[in-house]
Amino acid sequence: MPVTKAVIPAAGFGTRFLPATKSVPKEMLPVVDTPTIQYVVEECVKSGITDILMVIGRGKRALEEHFYSSEELEKRLGDSGQVTLLENVRHISEMANIHFVWQKELNGLGDAVSHGRTFIGNDPFALLLGDTILKPTDSTKPILRQMMEVYEAKKSSVVALEEVARDKVSRYGIAGGNGIADNIFALDQLVEKPSPEEAPSNLAVAARYIFQPEILDYLSKTPRGKNNEIQLTDAMAEMLKDHGMYGFRFAGKRYDIGNKLDFIKTNIELGLAHDDISGELAAYLKNIAAEL
Ligand code: G1P
Repeated sequence: MPVTKAVIPAAGFGTRFLPATKSVPKEMLPVVDTPTIQYVVEECVKSGITDILMVIGRGKRALEEHFYSSEELEKRLGDSGQVTLLENVRHISEMANIHFVWQKELNGLGDAVSHGRTFIGNDPFALLLGDTILKPTDSTKPILRQMMEVYEAKKSSVVALEEVARDKVSRYGIAGGNGIADNIFALDQLVEKPSPEEAPSNLAVAARYIFQPEILDYLSKTPRGKNNEIQLTDAMAEMLKDHGMYGFRFAGKRYDIGNKLDFIKTNIELGLAHDDISGELAAYLKNIAAEL
């Protein structure tokens, strides 16, 4: 069965990026001219997803407004003949069916995913973290689409993996397993934020997942774990005891915009790839680099 549903958790406080995120959701922070969440939604749409559930919370209303149509703005752009901008703005509200659900208390990523139960039903679904952009290298195919191909071949859950430095493993969910093909691993371990000594590898779970609906049963039985939160990784580790699960080490870059340094790096790198500003931005960067 093809994957047509996606869940995007976007309820977190964004404490690593205060004060900017006091009233603006971190997912709405722009990279060049587009909010981060829109890159994530576009990755879904280009991968064949038709229905998206965003898990939001207090202070996140801007996400809803961004994806609803704005008649007043569209009329103004139409009246003034700004056709390209009008098409861009219309596209945002038309590209997918986007639904919203409230997570009242922030009890962790696992709890956020549980809020998708009604939406997910008995279908497989993709899960994408709303503050992270993945950019494939040497491919126009989104990472999620590439993962779907693994899912379709294996008929089991798939998680995106990225190699990280050993001293950074405690920031991530870390996977252990055996390489069975180029960049594909049959997983046998998953640990949330382990110490470097406990970590089964340096392969970190990287913001994209495809799940069979059974993950929800495991989540409903998952007690609080690291940081006193319901951890998705803990539910995955339990599921792994009964079901196969695969890791896909993608070729590409991960941009987590939830902290200030990565946010600035992301804007520079994606700015350098943006038709409107790449030339002038490159010249500017060369100039200031020469002055450092
Ligand atoms: C979450 C997950 C973790 C994963 C990370 C990056 O952690 O719990 O397993 O490696 O996202 O995708 P967080 O960044 O919310 O602490």
